[in-house]
Amino acid sequence: MKILVTGGTGFIGSHTVVELQNRGYQVVIVDNLSNSDAKIVDSIEKITGTRPTLEVFDLVDRDKTADFFKRHNDLKGIIHFAAFKAVGESVQFPLKYYRNNLDSLVNILEAMKENNIPNFVFSSSCTVYGQPEELPVSENAPIQKAESPYGNTKQISEEIITDTVKVTDIHAIALRYFNPIGAHESALIGELPIGVPNNLVPFITQTAIGLRQQLSVFGEDYHTHDGTAVRDYIHVVDLAKAHVVAIDRMVNHKMKKPLEIFNLGTGIGYSVLDVINAFEKVSGLKLNYKIVARREGDIEKVWANPDFSNRELGWKAERNLEEMVNSAWKWEQTFRGKTIKPE
Ligand code: WQD
Repeated sequence: MKILVTGGTGFIGSHTVVELQNRGYQVVIVDNLSNSDAKIVDSIEKITGTRPTLEVFDLVDRDKTADFFKRHNDLKGIIHFAAFKAVGESVQFPLKYYRNNLDSLVNILEAMKENNIPNFVFSSSCTVYGQPEELPVSENAPIQKAESPYGNTKQISEEIITDTVKVTDIHAIALRYFNPIGAHESALIGELPIGVPNNLVPFITQTAIGLRQQLSVFGEDYHTHDGTAVRDYIHVVDLAKAHVVAIDRMVNHKMKKPLEIFNLGTGIGYSVLDVINAFEKVSGLKLNYKIVARREGDIEKVWANPDFSNRELGWKAERNLEEMVNSAWKWEQTFRGKTIKPE
């Protein structure tokens, strides 16, 4: 069975392609390579022994997207990762985010309808919850006004999908990710560092490898166990496996509603200092960091209630925090061709 993975050379996309191929699916990737590299396909082939097909074009281009789907009208499903996702950048360039993230989604849904392609898995985010009133956060928690254009594109995308499944034969599963970190155990794929990292874990590993001078910890005055902000970090391989479970569910007609929404988290919240301590433990290094002011737009604390996903999908995150940061550290060292010995 052939599955399209848009954004399949990206961080979560490439890990999902590996797990789809491990499961026996044939994978076609569409990516405009704006935030990744075609060499990732070589790495995927090294890991699985199978080379996915890669077509490079922009899904914002309606004609190219329509043409692609006409040529691949035997697709059994689509997993849609391709989107811009830097919160800060979206505040500076909102129209770039609305154009890219929403036009590509509409083009794909239109082409699915046109070619009777039934199954759509959407890469959503816990960002839609904002700062939840109640923790852990379940799928029926209220959606709060997005704090950034990026978060707003995720909310609007979910609404577009909700309206579309009502009047078409398209079935959709929206997966709301918490904080994906880590890398494949082979260290052949991981979070490709392009520019200064916004996210915590790549900044930690780049500081440890000597690329960054010092990690800034954004705030120590939150109402959490150690004052630093809390997130539900999830290993990217656990996350990737959940996408395969979702596709299996759809192709085997196990869905209970035309649109299903699942939180993908571990249900455990860790603070920034917890992550730093775990990194120091697995690397044997002392990380150079300092506490600075809070980052604009950050929420204080969030972690998932994974019960519905665990029960309904039969999927559960298995990897713990030390495995997550250890795999990220192995990837950083392999990518840079450097090994940093414990002090
Ligand atoms: C985590 C914690 C920071 C960097 C991100 C994306 C969001 C969504 C989920 C896709 C926060 C702190 C960070 C640093 C720090 N992804 N931090 N120093 O903001 O929770 O959300 O993942 O949908 O789009 O933005 O992740 O890794 O940026 O931050 O102290 O140099 O680490 O304040 O508390 P975030 P993050």
